[in-house]
Amino acid sequence: MKIDPLKIRKEFPMYVNEVQMQGKPLIWLDNASTTFKPFSVVEAVNNYYSYECANSHRGDYDLCHNMDLKIGRAREAIASLINSKPEEVVFTSGTTSSLNLIAHGYAEKHFKEGDEILVSEAEHASNLLPWFDLAKKIGLVIKYIPLTKEGRITVENVENAITSRTKLISIAQVGNVLGYLAPVKEIAALAHSHGALFSMDGAQSIPHMEVDVKDIDCDFLSFSLHKMCGPTGLGVLYGKYELLKETSPYEVGGGNNSKFYCSGDVAYLDPPMRFEAGTLNLASLSAVEATVNFLKNISLSAINQHEEELKRFAVEELSKIDDVIIYNATSESGIVTFNLKSVFAQDVATYLNSKGIACRSGQHCAKILPDFLGTPATVRASFYMYNTKEDILALADALKNGGNFLDAFFN
Ligand code: ALA
Repeated sequence: MKIDPLKIRKEFPMYVNEVQMQGKPLIWLDNASTTFKPFSVVEAVNNYYSYECANSHRGDYDLCHNMDLKIGRAREAIASLINSKPEEVVFTSGTTSSLNLIAHGYAEKHFKEGDEILVSEAEHASNLLPWFDLAKKIGLVIKYIPLTKEGRITVENVENAITSRTKLISIAQVGNVLGYLAPVKEIAALAHSHGALFSMDGAQSIPHMEVDVKDIDCDFLSFSLHKMCGPTGLGVLYGKYELLKETSPYEVGGGNNSKFYCSGDVAYLDPPMRFEAGTLNLASLSAVEATVNFLKNISLSAINQHEEELKRFAVEELSKIDDVIIYNATSESGIVTFNLKSVFAQDVATYLNSKGIACRSGQHCAKILPDFLGTPATVRASFYMYNTKEDILALADALKNGGNFLDAFFN
């Protein structure tokens, strides 16, 4: 099945409403940051506020019960997307909070001084700072899997970095800057053969490809709904149930316990509710089924194929411009990261803004990677199901015709 991006645009208010930027039709190339939401998702959020407003798990009346049922269906929808059991799906506020829960709920409890965590220099802050924090707290040792010259993580390099002290490998399935697809199934097997766990950051993969946690055999998976056409402020932590049972709640309060006493003793609920203290993001939870249905109807493999095609086209077009440096020409995903020789990345992004084109510039929250790339900052164009070759031609055209604004480019 091939994607028709123009037809898909009819499902998105941001396109239907012909949103402009700088008085020009908006060209949205910042999908690795966040994605647009289809009408079905907006409507589900709106319905919650307009007709279904109630808390969950706290009322003996229909509206509350309906919300409880809806959360159950949301868990089932996510479970069907990643091939897990519903009780292995924990709702969090996003990838960051999921990864913090692994670090502080699981690792802090089970790992000790001198234990090693393997990460890479390409990781996003959300998959490094929780480990840095834990390293300071309990004396963990953070080790970096060497990247290839291109910036890839290979099985061979993981093999070279793993030791008998490695307790966990925590990497992104698809990097948010270079967009390489890591060989996660082999890495999970390697981790397990050394008695270590494998935690996968799926923020940039779940929205763009079919992911099966059983097939990969990852122990934990973290991702955010807002990067997959879903609502903001909602994420998922998948964990194998036996591991979730061994995880302490990172946040505690109402809704995650069955009883507590003056002595300070608390009986916590079983997972997943053990990790869902406080009033949940109910409006966003109301839109989970709509989000998953939307992606399934379009087909994740078709989305993946479309993005690969756009990526190839973008590399082809940007390579025709003499002063463009592309850092990830061979990566599998719909992310192109580049610079214009002698022009600061933020200046390029600001100039693109003046043309109505949204790209991210800077370090993209992966603040170790620029040292590896040998540049302080880059510009990133990231594609999704509704992007077209015309969007890419507009980007290439803008880069070619920067005039005085990109004067360093033309000097
Ligand atoms: N993680 C998001 C990005 O890469 C915000 O832009």
